[in-house]
Formats: sequence, structure tokens, C-alpha cells
Amino acid sequence: MTNEITKAVEILQRGGLVAFPTETVYGLGADAANPSAVAKIFAAKNRPIDHPLIVHIAEIKQLSYWARDVSATALKLANSFWPGPLTMIFKKALHVSDLVTGSQDTIGLRIPNHPVAFNLLKSFGGALAAPSANRFGRISPTTAEAVKEELGDNVDAILAGGQCEVGVESTILDVSGETPVILRPGMITLKQIEAVLQQPVLVQRKNSPRVSGSHTSHYAPITTTNLVKDLRMLSQYLSQDCLPCAVLALNPELFSYLSNEAQLIEMPKNPKEYAFRLYQLLRDLDKQGLKRIFIEMVPNEHEWDAIRDRLRRAAVG
Ligand code: TXA
Ligand code: MG
Repeated sequence: MTNEITKAVEILQRGGLVAFPTETVYGLGADAANPSAVAKIFAAKNRPIDHPLIVHIAEIKQLSYWARDVSATALKLANSFWPGPLTMIFKKALHVSDLVTGSQDTIGLRIPNHPVAFNLLKSFGGALAAPSANRFGRISPTTAEAVKEELGDNVDAILAGGQCEVGVESTILDVSGETPVILRPGMITLKQIEAVLQQPVLVQRKNSPRVSGSHTSHYAPITTTNLVKDLRMLSQYLSQDCLPCAVLALNPELFSYLSNEAQLIEMPKNPKEYAFRLYQLLRDLDKQGLKRIFIEMVPNEHEWDAIRDRLRRAAVG
């Protein structure tokens, strides 16, 4: 056990907060079995108390402690995708604190795929309730520096682990009912889940306030952000009140007219690379005092579902 992990475990045992890297985004962790520790998460993030937290575990065998009625379907998915960026919603075990679950009868669980998270969870021995380590409504942090910017002194320790490989939050799949339902798209796609299960999976369309990512204006930069279907339409918006601005483009060749106050940023055409870059880029742009961020809409293909979802939320308001 490294010195840093030893200290982090001590903090968790005392009921403190430790931010740690996962493959998706950094999490703000507290002992999931200690309600007063979990309460500190809500205070540090300024998060409404009825928003349930994801509980992170190290191994599948911990599942039965936190969840009940785990179906064969869920186990199949756990074996296929864990450790990895899939959160599953189960019926909760009776002892689970209402603070963790937002007083619901269900609990979200996942095994993150990151060596630092794994070491922390293994050394701690229990489970960590951990939302993304940002202030409520803001962009999730994908580096230790971003956690520091978001939470400052509201966290007892930050474990560094480089830039998160996936870059957007996990896919959330409700497996507590008959048919699995995607509550939040992530980089594990509907098609990948259906391929494992050999059965159709539903996607929740309505905005449930219970899933904090489904609030409008979530994952949002401070700078006003607009989505643009076709970059050729953009020139009409580039009036003085939108400048200086940044334009995130998949097809920069479509954008021939460029004011020198518009910064053109070419985005990767591969969704994995796009996801990896997105949050840190928005965070950097937010520091530049821009009047507007324009983002070219991404393709209407399932591999882009998670990114399309986050862009829509960033652009509201
Ligand atoms: O990738 C991730 O999922 C990251 C890393 C740290 O694991 N965590 C994350 O946590 O994104 P958070 O709190 O920012 O988003 C978790 C989402 C929330 O929208 C919450 O409402 C939903 O999971 N959630 C948790 N438990 C739930 C439950 N029992 N029923 C429905 N939604 C639930
Ligand atoms: Mg979050």
C-alpha cells in the first residue's frame, strides 16, 4: 500500500472525503456504510439531498451485500463489463442508508476500472459512495487539478491518477425490473449491452429528476454554449456580441469564413477520442473569458449517444 493510499484509507475510516480517479471521471468518495460521511458529500458538492449516489465496489462478490434480487441478467452484465464504465441499478439491501439512495428502494453500483480506485477500494475494504467530484451542475473533473478547482478545501484528500481514459460518466442501466432500461447513456452503448444479453434494452426518454445528469443544464460550462447542426449556418451568429468565441468542429472544412476572434478547434471524429477530450477542453475554454462556445452536433449514431447527451445538457441555458 502506498503512503497516499494509507492516508486516504485513514481519512475514509474517520468519515472524511477522498477524491479518486476512475476510468470515467474523478469521484468524491465517502464510506458508503457511514451516513454522516455520506452527508458530507452533499455539503461539499452543494448537491440536493434527494439525488442518489453510485456505490463503488472492488469485486463482484460485494454485490450481494448492497443489492438484493440480483438477476441472472445483471450478473451476466457484471461479468461482461466490470470493472468498467457501467453502473447498474438494483433493489437495495435493507441496511443501505437512505442518504445513499435518495430514499429510493434501489441502489446504483459499479466496479470502476482504474488501478488507483481499485487499490483504494481494496485497502479500504468497504464500499465508496461517490458522485462525480464537481460542484452540482458543473462539468465532471477528468484530472486531479480539475477536482481541486471544483472542490478546493471541501475535500480531505485528492488521489491523482492522470487524465481519465473514458472522459464521460458511466452508462447507467436499471436492472431492478423485468427489462433493463438505460437511464444515462455512456460509452458502453445500448448495442453492446444488447449484444451480451441477446435481448432488447429500453432507453428512458423522459427527464427523471432522480438522475442528476437528467436535470437540464447539467455538465454545463459557465460560458454560454450553443449546438450547431451545420457549421455553414454559423457565420450569421458571429456578431460582435458572440465574440470572442470558440467553435468545436468535426468538419472544420465546412467553416471557411472565420473571424479572427473565433477560435476553431478540430474535434476527433472517433467518439472515444472525442469523449476523452471534451470535458477538459470545455474546462479550459471556460477560463478564457469567451462570450460563446459553439459546438458542431455529433453524428446521430449510437456510438455517439453519450456525447450527444452531454452536449445537449451543456448547451441548455
Ligand atoms: O462514471 C460515473 O458514474 C461517475 C464515477 C465517479 O463513478 N459517477 C457519477 O456520479 O457520475 P454522479 O452522482 O455524478 O451521477 C450518478 C447518477 C446520478 O444521476 C444519480 O441520480 C444516478 O446516478 N443514480 C444513482 N443511484 C440511482 C438510483 N438508485 N436510481 C436511479 N438513479 C441513480
Ligand atoms: Mg455528476
